[in-house]
Amino acid sequence: MAELKTFLSPYLTGDVFALVYLVAGILFILGLKGLAHPSSARRGNNFAMLGMFIAIMVTLFHPQITDYMWIFVPMALGALVGVPIALKINMTAMPQLVAILHSFVGLAAVLVAAGMFLPFQPQLINPEGVVSEGVLPQLSTATMIEIFMGAWIGAITFTGSVVAFAKLNGNFRSAPITFKGQHLLNLAIFVAMIYFGVYFAMYQSVEAFVVMCALAFLLGFTLIIPIGGADMPVIVSMLNSYSGWAAAATGFTLNNMQLIIAGALIGSSGAILSYIMCKAMNRSFISVVLGGFGADDDPAASERASAVEKGVKAAAVEDAGYMLENAESVVIVPGYGMAVAQAQHALKEVSEILEEKGVKTRFAIHPVAGRMPGHMNVLLAEADVPYDRVEEMDEINSDFSQTDVVLVVGANDVVNPDAKEDPSSPLYGMPILDAYKAKMVYVVKRSMSSGYAGVENTLFYMDNTYMIFGDAKEIAENLSSSLKGTAH
Ligand code: TAP
Repeated sequence: MAELKTFLSPYLTGDVFALVYLVAGILFILGLKGLAHPSSARRGNNFAMLGMFIAIMVTLFHPQITDYMWIFVPMALGALVGVPIALKINMTAMPQLVAILHSFVGLAAVLVAAGMFLPFQPQLINPEGVVSEGVLPQLSTATMIEIFMGAWIGAITFTGSVVAFAKLNGNFRSAPITFKGQHLLNLAIFVAMIYFGVYFAMYQSVEAFVVMCALAFLLGFTLIIPIGGADMPVIVSMLNSYSGWAAAATGFTLNNMQLIIAGALIGSSGAILSYIMCKAMNRSFISVVLGGFGADDDPAASERASAVEKGVKAAAVEDAGYMLENAESVVIVPGYGMAVAQAQHALKEVSEILEEKGVKTRFAIHPVAGRMPGHMNVLLAEADVPYDRVEEMDEINSDFSQTDVVLVVGANDVVNPDAKEDPSSPLYGMPILDAYKAKMVYVVKRSMSSGYAGVENTLFYMDNTYMIFGDAKEIAENLSSSLKGTAH
């Protein structure tokens, strides 16, 4: 590697680096563009991977890099841990994986900031190889501000993402944790953090740096604990955005244009995604950014539940099959339970059989169905469901009132009418798929238990709703056999 670098060094001018980084940046943009639709998502991913490969390769030839041991050994260790996780991870556990990966970006930003600032830089090692301890590097105010920015955004991203991971993974109560004066406390921590950050930037104080980081770590924790389960998707994409800004700030500190470009792309695309999700869930973007929109614990929930008329009707698969094949139009609403059961292939078969029988069959996707953005689209694409049979919430919502049968498979919160009609519901304000407006609704799930938000679903008790209890895949397979059986 070192010989190759010596050979290439006359050609690798600053302009060449800038050009290659620009190419990598364009590939990242093409990657993001590809990810906008399931049909181009794989291609988008390939572009982004190629961009990252090029960026890493060219950085390895940077003249400032003199010792490869500290690069290759951690890279190999990271790959040793990361590759098995990536190969084994279940699609349903993807959001927690994304959350924990954001935390690494945050921690890396803090460590780079500390590394830049604390007196262990190579230039402080004298020719005899002795580190001049206790001597702080002379850094410009601009650099100090960059270090400060990278460190506090990174620290908030780190603890915030760890809490998001723990909530999504079930290690931490997913219900909101709220207490009196929470917003004031967050504000006080924020102000104190900025104070110590400015002090640090002005006086290069190690103590101020440590206190500033500690406060930022604490703020990441206190900002995320009040967020309830149903609002987690917005938080994950917001933390994604924070991790991008932390990376961009690190790019300024390290004077690396590629990190600035990649960080800014992640930061802005994450912010746009959060904005879109806020709109989809009817939450205020500003309050998400400030971490202040957690739903309060809802002591009235159980009262409300018992007040709901308990008139659940169970149906057999064959009954549902009969109604489905005699319908003119059917809409299938998949949710998290479809992902858990891996029922997408069996459901695709059900939709094919119905189409063969002349029943117009479509899939309706809620933007936060499942546990990550695009979760349902990915699964349906994996099962080769044609894209023209998959419709987004805005496209299909007005059709539900003219739909004969809706088949809800493992979805719960995203079809809960309380989100529209009950101002005391924690889901209130979130747009839903209007499945309840259809002439008949079949809900496939294993029990009467609640969805991610932990609230009762009034859809299950409505006159036009029938429950089919069981595992989504098993029920979909039985449904498909039942439909095939009646075909002869
Ligand atoms: P949920 O409201 O979480 O409901 C899923 C339902 O699936 C559960 O009620 C469960 O009932 C059922 N289920 C689980 N395993 C099943 C199986 N093997 N077979 C059949 N049913 C099964 O799902 P949703 O409607 O998709 O809503 C998503 C929720 O997650 C929203 O609150 C959303 O805000 C939140 N969230 C979303 C994201 C993103 S980005 N999409 C990220 C984090 C959180 P049983 O136990 O009775 O079967």
